Amino acid sequence: MIVKNVIKTPIATNSSVQTAVSTPIETPTTSSPKMDTEKNTANKSSTHFPSKVSIVEVGARDGLQNEKAILTAKDKISLINLLSECGLKRIEAGAFVSPKWVPQMANSDEVFMGINRAKDVIYSALTPNIKGFENAIASKVDEVAIFGSASESFSQKNINCSINKSLKRFEPVIAAAKLQNIPVRGYVSCVMGCPYEGKIDSKSVTFVAKTLLEMGCYEISLGDTIGAGTPDATKRLLDDVCLDVPVTDLAVHFHDTYGQALVNIYTALHYGVATIDSAVAGLGGCPYAKGASGNVASEDVLYMLNGLGIETGISMDKLLLATKFISNVLDRQPVSKVANALLANSK
Ligand code: HMG
Ligand code: MG
Repeated sequence: MIVKNVIKTPIATNSSVQTAVSTPIETPTTSSPKMDTEKNTANKSSTHFPSKVSIVEVGARDGLQNEKAILTAKDKISLINLLSECGLKRIEAGAFVSPKWVPQMANSDEVFMGINRAKDVIYSALTPNIKGFENAIASKVDEVAIFGSASESFSQKNINCSINKSLKRFEPVIAAAKLQNIPVRGYVSCVMGCPYEGKIDSKSVTFVAKTLLEMGCYEISLGDTIGAGTPDATKRLLDDVCLDVPVTDLAVHFHDTYGQALVNIYTALHYGVATIDSAVAGLGGCPYAKGASGNVASEDVLYMLNGLGIETGISMDKLLLATKFISNVLDRQPVSKVANALLANSK
């Protein structure tokens, strides 16, 4: 068994989450001495949580890939530039996939060439095959992500090949990335269920996750593509996957279709998972997963982590500037309770 730092404690209730409800717009981590006291209390009662969490902001990719409107490169660049100023260290900024399959990502090259790159931020992109990888390198991406699936049917619909064939397709991508010192992240989709097959066996998730890791991915993001997971299902999944994949190599990627994403993340934090994918304003979905709604909102995740006294380095105030910007572009309210509440209070 190669589980590192896995603590399988029962879920404890944490009063600091409630304490933080009256928090004004600035993040508790940078606020008054009163806030510091609250933070310390939170830390004591949740010492099994990671002390720091890295948020991977996927709104510009996972979010915008599912918008009917195809955003201009200029708007995407403005969004990513705002996100770069929040303290986020990892931003998934586009995808080098077939423009026939996902036209929303067709201007990813322009986007990558137009953004202001903060020197401590990693800008990554999806690359399903070697063609995508070469295009990504030409656009100077810092990191690439390959995306497999735990469901055969989803693999066929999403990338037009079987799971085994997809793993074969990823081999040259990983080899080329290695030669150029480009880190490769691996996604596993449908870890909690598939829009075509329903229930997915966690053995299949573990197989794909472990294989991607052995092939050379440095991190595996477990994708609840259709947002079907619940806390118990998250526990069962992590109990199984962590038998073969170190928890320190795992990230979680929850869509919020059934409103379970935050509590699932809270569950994953108990296992020591310290990398969380989320999307500003709760943008997102997947063009090949009908009915899947957006990724969990970054604002909601940040608020919860702040309440738990977990460090992220992200400024809520600055994140909300990105929220406001993209909500104006899309001409709709953010799908984030936290963003809506904080923006209403700041008027
Ligand atoms: P295919 O049609 O089987 O590919 O698509 P092909 O190799 O037969 O090529 C067909 C055409 O596509 C050719 O062009 C290729 O040049 C072109 P033609 O000769 O017909 O003019 N092509 C490409 N063009 C640009 N970039 C490329 C590329 N590759 C081939 N990289 C392929 C296979 C994988 C390309 C296609 O199925 C595809 O692009 N799929 C992407 C689907 C996608 O982006 N889905 C959403 C992302 S996954 C997700 O959201 C889940 C995640 O968030 C986690 C979670 O939530 O669970 C990550
Ligand atoms: Mg996704």
